[in-house]
Amino acid sequence: MIYNIISLCIFVSCFVTIKTDTPCAARQISGQSVVCVCNATYCDDFTRDEPEQGSYKIYTSSESGLRFNKSEGTLGESTLCLLCSNTFEIQPDKTHQEIQGFGGAVTDAAGINWKSLDSTIRDYLIKSYYSNKGLEYNFVRVPIGGSDFSTRAYAYNELPENDVNLSNYTLSPEDYEYKIPMIQAINSASSVPVNIMGTTWSPPVWMKTNNAYTGVSRLKAEYYQTYADYHIKFMEQYAAENITIWGITTTNEPLNGVLGIIPFNCLGWTASELGSWIAKYLGPTVRNSTFKDIKILTGDDQRYSVPLYFNVLVAKYPEALDYIDGVGVHYYANVIVPAEILDISIDQYPEKFLLGTEACAGFLPTDTKVLLGSWDRANSYIKAILQDLNHEVSGWIDWNLCLDTTGGPNWASNFVDSAVIVNATAQEFYKQPMYYALGHVSKFVPKGSLRIEVSESKGLLQSSIPNAAFLTPRNTTVLVLANTGGNRKVKVKRSDDSMVLDLIANSIVTVEFNN
Ligand SMILES: *[C@@H]1O[C@H](CO)[C@@H](O)[C@H](O)[C@H]1NC(C)=O
Ligand SMILES: *[C@@H]1O[C@H](CO)[C@@H](O)[C@H](O)[C@H]1NC(C)=O
Ligand SMILES: *[C@@H]1O[C@H](CO)[C@@H](O)[C@H](O)[C@H]1NC(C)=O
Ligand SMILES: *[C@@H]1O[C@H](CO)[C@@H](O)[C@H](O)[C@H]1NC(C)=O
Ligand SMILES: *[C@@H]1O[C@H](CO)[C@@H](O)[C@H](O)[C@H]1NC(C)=O
Ligand SMILES: *[C@@H]1O[C@H](CO)[C@@H](O)[C@H](O)[C@H]1NC(C)=O
Ligand SMILES: *[C@@H]1O[C@H](CO)[C@@H](O)[C@H](O)[C@H]1NC(C)=O
Ligand SMILES: *[C@@H]1O[C@H](CO)[C@@H](O)[C@H](O)[C@H]1NC(C)=O
Repeated sequence: MIYNIISLCIFVSCFVTIKTDTPCAARQISGQSVVCVCNATYCDDFTRDEPEQGSYKIYTSSESGLRFNKSEGTLGESTLCLLCSNTFEIQPDKTHQEIQGFGGAVTDAAGINWKSLDSTIRDYLIKSYYSNKGLEYNFVRVPIGGSDFSTRAYAYNELPENDVNLSNYTLSPEDYEYKIPMIQAINSASSVPVNIMGTTWSPPVWMKTNNAYTGVSRLKAEYYQTYADYHIKFMEQYAAENITIWGITTTNEPLNGVLGIIPFNCLGWTASELGSWIAKYLGPTVRNSTFKDIKILTGDDQRYSVPLYFNVLVAKYPEALDYIDGVGVHYYANVIVPAEILDISIDQYPEKFLLGTEACAGFLPTDTKVLLGSWDRANSYIKAILQDLNHEVSGWIDWNLCLDTTGGPNWASNFVDSAVIVNATAQEFYKQPMYYALGHVSKFVPKGSLRIEVSESKGLLQSSIPNAAFLTPRNTTVLVLANTGGNRKVKVKRSDDSMVLDLIANSIVTVEFNN
C-alpha cells in the first residue's frame, strides 16, 4: 500500500508542471535601477501564465526594481472608476498588421562575449532570450562577414582579388568559432522556428570603388552579379551547417557609404542604384536559386530613408517590387521624422511589410556607452517599439544580443549598450532594464498576432500613456502600457469587459486576457 502511494506520487509528479519562476537576482546600480545578475548557478526566468476565463494576468517591470512581477485580477462588466486618469478602449474589430516576431543580432561581438562564459552560463544566456522561460524571441540577424562589432574588418573571398566567380569563398574563423555555435544553440533552445536574417555590411574591398571597408564607396559595375552570388554562397555555406536563412537585407545602412560619415564597414547605394541591382541581379539570382523562397528586405536604414529606399527605388525600378518582400527600419534617427512616414510608405504597398532590423542605446558620441541599470534606456526602447508597432512595423530586432562591459568589442571603437552585458572576469552577465522592456512585448505577442486599435481618453492635464494592443494566436488579447509618469489608476475596456489597473510610477505593464 505504502509502496503504491509512493509510486503513485512519483507517477503523478511526472505530470505536474512546476511553474515556479526564478526571481531576478537584483543588483542595485547607484543612481539607476537594477540589473539582474546571472551566473553559473543562478539566472532569473519566468513562464507566461495562461489567463483563465473571466480574469486577466498582469506583468509589471519598473524603475523601482520589479521585473515581470506577476499578478492577476477579475474582469468586471462596467467598472466605474472616477479616479482613473486614462481609459483605454480596445477595439478588436479594427485589425492592423500581422506580427512576425522579435529578436537580436548574433554579431561576432555577441558570439565572443557569449563564448567567454562557462557553458552553463552560456546556456542561461541563450535560454534567457529564446526559450519559453525567457523572452521567446524568434528572430536572429547575422552579419554576412564582418561588421563594426568584429575585432577586425573583413569579408569573405578577400583573395584572390577581382575574383568575379568567387572561387575562394569560405566562411571566416569567426563564423565557426562564434556565430554558428551561437545560432545552433539558439535553434535548439527555441520551441518555435527561428527566422535568421543575413545582412552584408561591406563586400570584399576589390568589389568597391574606393578599395576600402569604410568611407564613400559604390559597388563596381562589373561586380553587380558577383555581389548577388556573394549572398547565395553565404546561404549555401550556412545551409551546410544546418542553418536555414529566412531572409536577407540588401546591404546594411546604404546611406552610410553615400555620406561617408561613419567609421565602419559600409557600401554606398543610392536608391536608384540599389533598385537596379535588386531588379536586374539580386532578385533574379535569388528567385532562380534553391533559396528562392527567402525574404528580401531593402532599406535596412534609418526611418527617414524609408521613402527613398522604397518609394523612390520602386518608382525607378518597378520590377524590383517583384522581388522585395519588405523594408527594414533602423532606430537611430527616429527623432528626425514622424512615425507617420512609415504608414505613408507601407500604405502604398500593402502586400509588403516593415520590420525593425536594428536598435541600440548609447550610440551617440556623447552617450555613456554601457549604462548599467538604466531605466531611461528601457523607457526609450519600449516607447520606440510601441510607436513602430503602431505604425505598421511587423517586428523588432535588437542589435547585439550581448556585449562586454565597455560595449564591445568593436574594431572601429563604435561602442554601444546592449540588453545583456557580459562580465567575463566575474563569469556573470547582467540583464539590463532594456531586456525586460523587449520582453514585455516579445514574450506576449508571438508571431501571427494581429495589432488591434486602442483609443485612449484621458483627464484634463493627464499625460498620455504609450500603448499597443494585439490579438494573439493563443486566443488572447494583450495590451502593453509604458507608464512614464507617476502612480496612476487606469481603466481598460473591451466590449463588455473592463478592468481597473494600478500602474506604479515608471513602469512597463503587459496585461493578457482571453478573447
Ligand atoms: C550566483 O548567484 C547567486 C544568486 O545571486 C548567488 O547566491 C551565488 O553566490 C552566485 N554564485 C557565484 C559563484 O557568484
Ligand atoms: C506584484 O506581485 C504581487 C504578487 O502577485 C502583487 O501582490 C503586487 O500587487 C504586484 N505589484 C504590482 C505593482 O503589480
Ligand atoms: C583563399 O582565401 C584564404 C583566406 O581565407 C587565403 O589565405 C588564400 O590565399 C586564398 N587563396 C587564393 C588562391 O587566393
Ligand atoms: C568564371 O566562370 C565562368 C563560367 O564558369 C567562366 O567562363 C569564366 O572564365 C570564369 N571567369 C574567371 C575570371 O575565372
Ligand atoms: C546537419 O544535420 C544532419 C541531419 O540531422 C546531420 O546528419 C549533419 O551531421 C548535420 N551537419 C552539421 C554540419 O551539423
Ligand atoms: C534560371 O535558371 C535557369 C536554369 O539554370 C536558366 O535557364 C534561366 O535562364 C534562369 N533565369 C533567370 C531569370 O535567371
Ligand atoms: C566585473 O567583474 C569584476 C570581477 O568581479 C569586477 O571587479 C567588476 O567591477 C565587474 N564589472 C562591472 C561593470 O560590473
Ligand atoms: C477563442 O476564445 C473564444 C471566446 O472565449 C472562444 O469562443 C473560441 O472558441 C476560442 N477559440 C480558440 C481557437 O480557442
